[in-house]
Amino acid sequence: MRAPDPFVPSLFRVDRVWREASDTATLGLVALQGEIPAFLSGQFFMLYAFGIGEIPVSVSGLWDRGPLLHTVRAVGAVSQALCRLRPGETVGVRGPYGSPWPLPEAEGGDLLLIAGGLGLAPIRSALLQALAERGRYGQIALLYGARSPEDLLFGEEIERWRSRPDLQVEVTVDHASPAWRGSVGVVPARIADARFSPERVIACVCGPEVMMRYSASALLRAGVPAARIFLSLERNMKCAFAVCGRCQFGPTFVCRDGPVFPYDRIARLLSIREL
Ligand SMILES: Cc1cc2nc3c(=O)[nH]c(=O)nc-3n(C[C@H](O)[C@H](O)[C@H](O)COP(=O)(O)OP(=O)(O)OC[C@H]3O[C@@H](n4cnc5c(N)ncnc54)[C@H](O)[C@@H]3O)c2cc1C
Ligand code: FES
Repeated sequence: MRAPDPFVPSLFRVDRVWREASDTATLGLVALQGEIPAFLSGQFFMLYAFGIGEIPVSVSGLWDRGPLLHTVRAVGAVSQALCRLRPGETVGVRGPYGSPWPLPEAEGGDLLLIAGGLGLAPIRSALLQALAERGRYGQIALLYGARSPEDLLFGEEIERWRSRPDLQVEVTVDHASPAWRGSVGVVPARIADARFSPERVIACVCGPEVMMRYSASALLRAGVPAARIFLSLERNMKCAFAVCGRCQFGPTFVCRDGPVFPYDRIARLLSIREL
C-alpha cells in the first residue's frame, strides 16, 4: 500500500470566525473526517486557501478544547483569503509541524511569556496550557505589546487574565489613543517589571524579530541564561517537513528544528532576514 502523500491537506470546515482587530481574525476549524491531530503549544499547521496558496500558521488554542484555533493577520494573498473565510466554508490543513514551547522544562520554576503583536497567538496557546496546569509552575507573567490600543488581540480575555491573582499581566502600546490609560512603550522595557527568578525562569518570546532581539538582550541583562530563553522564529516555508530547503540555513531547518529555538542556538539566525 502506498504511503499517504505528505503534501495533501485534510479538509476542515470553518466552524466559527472571530474578528480580533481590523486586519486579524481567529478561525475555529473542525475536521471533516476523523479527529483534530494531537499538537503541542508552539507548533504550527499549514493552512491552504483553495486556489490561492498555503501558509504556516501557529495554533492559538489548545488541542483538547473545541475546534482547532488559528489567528491570522491579513498581510498578503493567502492570509487575506483565510481572513475572508466564513462559517461553513472549507480549508485545507496539514500538520502539526515544528517544535513546541518548552513548558515541561518550566515546571517547578517560573514562566515568563513575552508577546509582541500577532506573537500573542502562539503565546496564548502556551498560557492556556500553563493555566490549565497552574499548580506545576511558580510565578507566571505575560508581557504583551501592540502598536496601538486598536491592535490589541484577545481584549476580553486579557481582562479576565488580569483579574487572576495567580497571573501577572502587563500590557503596553507603542502609540496611545486619547482614551488609553495603560502603559505606553515597547514590551522589552516591561521585563524589569515582571516577577520571576532569573535562574529558574523559562522565558518564551514571540513577535517581530526586532522585539525578540531586544527582549533577549533585556533577559540576558536580567541574568536569565541564554539556554532558558526561547524564541519562535518566522521564515518562509513550503513543505514544512525539512524536504524543500526553503527554510534551511546550514544544518538547521526552521520548520523541523524550530520554530521554537533556545536563544543560544538561534542568535546568529536572527540577523538573517530571509533564508
Ligand atoms: C512557524 C510560523 C508560524 C506563523 N504563525 C502565524 C500566525 O499564527 N498568524 C499569522 O497571521 N501568520 C503567521 N505566520 C506568518 C504567515 O505564514 C505569513 O504572514 C504568510 O506566509 C504570508 O503569506 P501571504 O500569502 O498572506 O502574504 P505574502 O504575499 O507572502 O506577503 C505579502 C506581504 O506581507 C509581508 N509579510 C509576509 N509575512 C509577513 C508577516 N509575518 N508579517 C508581516 N508582513 C509579512 C511580505 O513581505 C509581503 O510584503 C507564521 C509563519 C511561520 C513561519
Ligand atoms: S519548509 Fe521545506 S525545508 Fe523547511
